[in-house]
Amino acid sequence: MDFGKLACSGGTPVLMEPIRDGWHQITDLEKQAVMDLMDHGVLSVSKGGIVGEFEEECAQFIGTRFGLACCNGTSTLHSAYVAVGVGPGTEVIVPAYTWHATVTPILHCSATPVFAEIDPATLCLDPADVERRITERTRAITVVQVWGNVPDMDRFRDLADRHGLALIEDASHAHGATWQGKRIGSFGDIGCFSMQGGKAVSGGELGMVVTDSAELFDRMLLLGHFGRIDEGQAGPTFPGIGDMSLGAKYRAHPYAIAVARCGLSRLAELNRLRTRNYAILNDVLRGVKGIQTVDPIPGAERAGYLEFKFLVQPELLGGTRDEFAQACQAENAPVNVDRYSDLNFTYGLLHLAPLYNGFDRGDMGGCFHDPERPELRNGLGYKQGDLPVTEDICSRMIGTPAFADVPEDTVERVGLAMRKVAHHMNQGKK
Ligand SMILES: Cc1ncc(COP(=O)(O)O)c(C=O)c1O
Repeated sequence: MDFGKLACSGGTPVLMEPIRDGWHQITDLEKQAVMDLMDHGVLSVSKGGIVGEFEEECAQFIGTRFGLACCNGTSTLHSAYVAVGVGPGTEVIVPAYTWHATVTPILHCSATPVFAEIDPATLCLDPADVERRITERTRAITVVQVWGNVPDMDRFRDLADRHGLALIEDASHAHGATWQGKRIGSFGDIGCFSMQGGKAVSGGELGMVVTDSAELFDRMLLLGHFGRIDEGQAGPTFPGIGDMSLGAKYRAHPYAIAVARCGLSRLAELNRLRTRNYAILNDVLRGVKGIQTVDPIPGAERAGYLEFKFLVQPELLGGTRDEFAQACQAENAPVNVDRYSDLNFTYGLLHLAPLYNGFDRGDMGGCFHDPERPELRNGLGYKQGDLPVTEDICSRMIGTPAFADVPEDTVERVGLAMRKVAHHMNQGKK
């Protein structure tokens, strides 16, 4: 194949113009659904109605007994940690490579996050490293199916069971994904889903938590859902408590639910398109010197995505990931350095984030450090080099948007642009 001169050196770009991915989250369906609620004067629903219907639809979709709609994904995680007994003196094992909301609710429980390594094959927690970090304080493990990637969920379930720990899934990126044919979100004691604006199923600001356990469901209700405790599953768990809650108000907005229900009805098609497009890109890039694809492991069916990920191998490629990304952008291919490890976008990896290193959390009111471990209130003591595998992977990660509404040949051209840049770098020409 003749790759021609790089666009950044005056050559013709592989793509004539930047790509706009036009998957529509708001269609006439969403507008009508919200209008219907407005026409009926619905502004807030404490239980039943559209809330109850959506909870049932989600539980059925994931394959669990219960679903509980919450106002966002962060509140689903807080609810899950509280429900499984994460509190002072306890630890939760989490990846350092995730959105910070997987971890910050652990601080709201006055507990301590413990960061474990991720696996380069899945970009998700490495079960062997998780097992090494289990102590008598460990109460839970939180697996994040980051960017829709699915690790061996049976291994995590087994690990949690053997050590008597709770398994929590932060499946915010993996709507509709499966492991061995079973939906992600159904392996944990509790599965948490953000349905914020960027997610595959979105209500703008919304969350859904699923579980098979009536008791865990009730404990989550008690934390954040005033007005529901008295009835339904909660009755037998907390007799005589009335319908008060512990005061966090995590109720979802009915308009957000109306929008998300429409998204749920289109999820299968969105996942089909994204899966096809990722496969096209991976096929074009497989075997390219210096670019590693991240393919699903056997038994895993990816979905949701948010972004597609690749790993650069700088010595083989002949350049850095930043040089590679910039040269691809000049070809009009939307290749970026990974967002979660980009210091311009976030704190970078969480074990090195200022919030966990140096910031005095004990200075805050509330419950942001463990009173049993005052020595940790200024930081958890991590430093560069403490998670060598995670740090290495994330320093080499690049991403593209998770295309949905662009033609197949445009996706292929993104892959060809990446190949062109890699070819030039392999030859020592940047
Ligand atoms: C992996 C992950 N967990 C949790 C959250 C928090 O969700 P929310 O923004 O809905 O509170 C997000 C949001 O981006 C996320 O990506």
